[in-house]
Amino acid sequence: MAVRDVPSLLLLGLLALLHTWGASAKVEVNMVEKVEVYLGETAEINCSFTSDDGISGSGGLLIKWFHETSSGKRQKIYHQESLQNNEEKNTPFTGRIKVNSTSQDVVMIISNVQLSDEGEFICEVRSVTEGSKNGSTKLRVFKKPDQPTIEGVENGISINDPISKIGTCEVKNGYPKPNVTWYRENTPLRNIPDGVQIAQEVTSESSGLFSIKSYLSIKVKKEDKDAHFYCEVQYNIPGAEKMYESQRIQPTVYYPSTAATISVKSPNGHIKEGDTVELHCITDGNSESEEIQIIHKGVKLTDDATAVLERVTRLQDGVYECKIMNMYTFEEISANIDLRVNYLDEAVIEPKGPLEVVQKNELNTSCNALSSLHTETTWLKDGKEVSRGHFLNLANVTYEDAGTYVCVVTVPSVKGMQTNSSLQVHIQGPPQNSIPTENDINYKDEDVELSCYARGYPSPNITWTTSDDKVLGSATYTETNDGAKSVVKVKASDMTIFCKSQNGYGTHSVEYNIKAVINKHTTTPATTTADYTTTTADNTTINVTTNTSTTTNAAISKSTVKPETAKPPEKVKKGNNGVIIAVIIICILLLAILGSVLYFLYKKGKICNRSGKQDFTKEKSGKDKIVVEMKSDKSEEAILLGVNGEKQLPSDQ
Ligand SMILES: *[C@@H]1O[C@H](CO)[C@@H](O)[C@H](O)[C@H]1NC(C)=O
Ligand SMILES: *[C@@H]1O[C@H](CO)[C@@H](O)[C@H](O)[C@H]1NC(C)=O
Ligand SMILES: *[C@@H]1O[C@H](CO)[C@@H](O)[C@H](O)[C@H]1NC(C)=O
Ligand SMILES: *[C@@H]1O[C@H](CO)[C@@H](O)[C@H](O)[C@H]1NC(C)=O
Ligand SMILES: *[C@@H]1O[C@H](CO)[C@@H](O)[C@H](O)[C@H]1NC(C)=O
Ligand SMILES: *[C@@H]1O[C@H](CO)[C@@H](O)[C@H](O)[C@H]1NC(C)=O
Ligand SMILES: *[C@@H]1O[C@H](CO)[C@@H](O)[C@H](O)[C@H]1NC(C)=O
Ligand SMILES: *[C@@H]1O[C@H](CO)[C@@H](O)[C@H](O)[C@H]1NC(C)=O
Ligand SMILES: *[C@@H]1O[C@H](CO)[C@@H](O)[C@H](O)[C@H]1NC(C)=O
Ligand SMILES: *[C@@H]1O[C@H](CO)[C@@H](O)[C@H](O)[C@H]1NC(C)=O
Ligand SMILES: *[C@@H]1O[C@H](CO)[C@@H](O)[C@H](O)[C@H]1NC(C)=O
Repeated sequence: MAVRDVPSLLLLGLLALLHTWGASAKVEVNMVEKVEVYLGETAEINCSFTSDDGISGSGGLLIKWFHETSSGKRQKIYHQESLQNNEEKNTPFTGRIKVNSTSQDVVMIISNVQLSDEGEFICEVRSVTEGSKNGSTKLRVFKKPDQPTIEGVENGISINDPISKIGTCEVKNGYPKPNVTWYRENTPLRNIPDGVQIAQEVTSESSGLFSIKSYLSIKVKKEDKDAHFYCEVQYNIPGAEKMYESQRIQPTVYYPSTAATISVKSPNGHIKEGDTVELHCITDGNSESEEIQIIHKGVKLTDDATAVLERVTRLQDGVYECKIMNMYTFEEISANIDLRVNYLDEAVIEPKGPLEVVQKNELNTSCNALSSLHTETTWLKDGKEVSRGHFLNLANVTYEDAGTYVCVVTVPSVKGMQTNSSLQVHIQGPPQNSIPTENDINYKDEDVELSCYARGYPSPNITWTTSDDKVLGSATYTETNDGAKSVVKVKASDMTIFCKSQNGYGTHSVEYNIKAVINKHTTTPATTTADYTTTTADNTTINVTTNTSTTTNAAISKSTVKPETAKPPEKVKKGNNGVIIAVIIICILLLAILGSVLYFLYKKGKICNRSGKQDFTKEKSGKDKIVVEMKSDKSEEAILLGVNGEKQLPSDQ
């Protein structure tokens, strides 16, 4: 064994020294723990290192990439030496990887990441002088699942049923496997024996994605009747945890009734005859297996929770029962209501009309209507309230009290509940003629129509007489509300006419003094040659003065009616006698003048031919127009009327 030489020994020593140094200056590899990426996207895995061997691939460094699946299968996918970059052939990564290198790091870029790419990426950095070092990064791949769908069972579930399916929740195509949680309202549900049962069906699709179907079954309780159920899907995405909430489902829960109430839904307040009544039965249950009936006096009205009673009468009064029968358990519950149907009978007036009451006597009559409620009575006459209360009491009655009374009975507590009845009241007493007014005298051509009204009951008869006691037969007679009316037609001339009324209680008369006055107003001068009688164009006026005086004779009297003694004409003033006499004298004078004129004309007519007379009649009919004026005196009514002068002559009638 010969030592060759010193320089070779030195070299060996230097190498040994270098080796020692190299051991202390090792390769360092730095990689993040994990990289997370969505399916189909690009993942970058950075392998950064420190080495004295300088620039990668410059000769001193060898870099290898391995992929290890979660099941532990390891495979080299890439290696890098000197300036050569080599992608391994026939690996799942072939064609999808690129490597970007600098002096401190090597970045592997994997495009279109697949689910199978998940696993560990190992980066081995080997230096000739400094040895080798491994680093690794986990790659996690994610796929967001589709929105979950939920489906509730269609049929209702009874609380008597065993644990039953409520709904199904489905979530599709997620990675990694999402979690499904069921909620009732906001409380997560867990399996509870005999309470909650959640079953899950996980499908791994051919794509490697997961689909999950989750079934919820529960034993429903009454409290579940309004409960909403839903499922929540939790899933991960790169760097975060997310969740979806499904729609809500509300299963129909059947539960037996434990209590019921029956009530009147309409009308509000008091029920009256004729109303339509709606009864409602309300239970606290919700059951298919229950039968509801509404019963009245043993008669079933309906198989329903509602009963409508149309136009109720008092016979429908009483207890209404709502009966609920459980068809499984045959248990029965019921509720009652006592229905009051209020009524208001017809108003009855006692004594019944028509009533006849003698003047100055008392009238006492009552009106009432049977009712189930408090009533109020009002008496009306001619639409005006005259009395309140059941009794209509009138003392010292007068003709003004005669007429129709209506008694209205109302129930103040129920709107529209009212009845009424009417009473005819006649006041018995002697006739009372009304003082004639202008309206009672009408002029028809040369006639005067006189009207006479007599108040009294029984209706008085009316007779018209002239001053010489001649009865005028042509009068009309009409009974009125409170007496009678008569109209007579007379030729206008000076005369006095009496209207006399009579019934069993007495008589009364009115006197009409008619005064016919010729009033000449010459409008055109008489034609020079014409005959006086035929060519007269005179405008004549008759003043008719009615002078009324009344006489009352109370012949018969009944009970408290005071016999009315014949009264002197009340409205007549004795001082007027003079005026009348003067008027009469004037009239006589006028008549005398007229008489002489007529006589003169008569004489003349004898001389003249007959045609003149014919003309006269023609003219007469042509001048029948009457102009009427009316005038009132201080104490009597004076009426003026215009008529052809000749017509009013008594001889003409
Ligand atoms: C690789 O990682 C190192 C250290 O964390 C960093 O300095 C470098 O910039 C990274 N390279 C790339 C391409 O991300
Ligand atoms: C590789 O590196 C170069 C230079 O640093 C850069 O321009 C390029 O975008 C990189 N490629 C990828 C896919 O990161
Ligand atoms: C690095 O990983 C490769 C591949 O698994 C292995 O062959 C090698 O021995 C490892 N090196 C070190 C230093 O752990
Ligand atoms: C699913 O639930 C399991 C167990 O509770 C949990 O470990 C996991 O992180 C959940 N997954 C998601 C995506 O939330
Ligand atoms: C009216 O008659 C009734 C009974 O008939 C009686 O009770 C009442 O007192 C009478 N009223 C008057 C004011 O007389
Ligand atoms: C009846 O009425 C008349 C007229 O109103 C009156 O004069 C008379 O005193 C009354 N009689 C009684 C008893 O009240
Ligand atoms: C009386 O009753 C009838 C029928 O109900 C009604 O039409 C009339 O208005 C009533 N009269 C009064 C005065 O209330
Ligand atoms: C009118 O009535 C009275 C009493 O009722 C009777 O006595 C008389 O005869 C009647 N007169 C005429 C004209 O009818
Ligand atoms: C009577 O007089 C009235 C007016 O006062 C007049 O309109 C009418 O024509 C006259 N009649 C004659 C026939 O002249
Ligand atoms: C008739 O009435 C008229 C009009 O008021 C009056 O001018 C005339 O004097 C009256 N004639 C007599 C006779 O009263
Ligand atoms: C009415 O006639 C009567 C008698 O017939 C008489 O006494 C009286 O004065 C007349 N009245 C008037 C207002 O002319």
